[in-house]
Amino acid sequence: MSVFEGKHILLGVTGSIAAYKAADIASKLTQAGAEVDVVLTEHARRFVTEVTFRAITRRPVLIDLFDEPEERQIAHIHLAKRADVLLIAPATANILAKLAVGLADDLLTTLALATQAKVVIAPAMNTVMWQHPATQHNVRILEERGALFVYPAEGMLACGDVGAGKLADTPTILSAVETALAPPLRGVRLLVTAGPTEEPVDAVRHLSNPSSGKMGYAIAQEAVRQGAEVTLVTGPTLLDPPAGARVVRVRSAQQMLDACLQVYDGVDVVIAAAAVSDYRPAEVWQGKRKKGEEEWTIRLVPNPDILRTLGERKGGRILVGFAAETHELLENAQKKLLEKNLDLIVANDVSQEGTGFRADTNRVTLLWASGRQEQLPLMSKREVARHLLQAVCDLLRAAKATKGASA
Ligand code: CTP
Repeated sequence: MSVFEGKHILLGVTGSIAAYKAADIASKLTQAGAEVDVVLTEHARRFVTEVTFRAITRRPVLIDLFDEPEERQIAHIHLAKRADVLLIAPATANILAKLAVGLADDLLTTLALATQAKVVIAPAMNTVMWQHPATQHNVRILEERGALFVYPAEGMLACGDVGAGKLADTPTILSAVETALAPPLRGVRLLVTAGPTEEPVDAVRHLSNPSSGKMGYAIAQEAVRQGAEVTLVTGPTLLDPPAGARVVRVRSAQQMLDACLQVYDGVDVVIAAAAVSDYRPAEVWQGKRKKGEEEWTIRLVPNPDILRTLGERKGGRILVGFAAETHELLENAQKKLLEKNLDLIVANDVSQEGTGFRADTNRVTLLWASGRQEQLPLMSKREVARHLLQAVCDLLRAAKATKGASA
């Protein structure tokens, strides 16, 4: 049975040239068994008419906040309560701004405030409008509030510009609605490590590395969105904590190991994205060391390897690591995969432009314990997180099937 069967989807259509594509979305959802109520904004009606949507969904199309077809019900509250998902496709820059501040000046924005359903948003607009800091800020606000975004694709836009802004294709939008209806990681308990560690030298100095934590935070954020119960153990970073995750802040590698071991019993999957300092000063100077003329030699001792420690007591868990390399990427990653008893490793060439530390993008290769490999193109860390979590879902499914077969 399709996940859409019997589900109630509110489809908000706003005033973008891509509004006509919403007819295809409404049609596919209806064919898949969903009950689709279409809400058109005033501007959307300049591009498409209610007749199309009424014919496709075989249901009345909603426009006016003050339409009350049934005397005993306040229409928008009733619709908002019944909805399983509110899908807004296409979403203009204007609707994103209104949703971000919580305006309720028409039926769609009122529904968005009145519903507790999962919200899926597929924007479509001119590239400059999409990339405008105001729009990007609104996207971030809505994501933090739990909205699931289907980012616009790149291509030739109606205005003649080429760039990001095209409404994503129907299958991609439908798969996001599917994720909202049946979160793939629901019930999965995930531990993510992120950020650098700091190893104190004295009261004001430490040993560390330039990790920003962006990769691990993107994984945690995306996993929450996909329904996982996430514990994020993080070294010091400047990032906002991902909404919905339990965050444990640590400083040193030893503290990170202790925090991981504390939750390890209740965890199904570990993704270790932290850039852990491999060494720490043997002695920590008390107070601040004053400068002098003589040399200062700091003796370093090895830190515990957190992931290896977890791998030694792996049980039935899925363990995923990262490999930060500057040479012999795949050979070194393969070695770590075996040595740390992992199911999957993400090989990351940190010497390349736009990858690894601090960047918003990453170019990685996934290596499975089974020997499979997949090289991903340069993409945002969020997209890397999505690919990685898809791989985790597949591993969980395979592990479940093996367990079922041997039971
Ligand atoms: N890792 C860890 N604890 C450490 C070092 C690394 O948990 N003390 C984890 C990282 O989070 C990552 C993986 O192990 O998932 C590989 O980390 P990386 O820094 O690439 O490799 P190292 O094991 O430190 O080996 P090397 O520095 O020699 O490349």
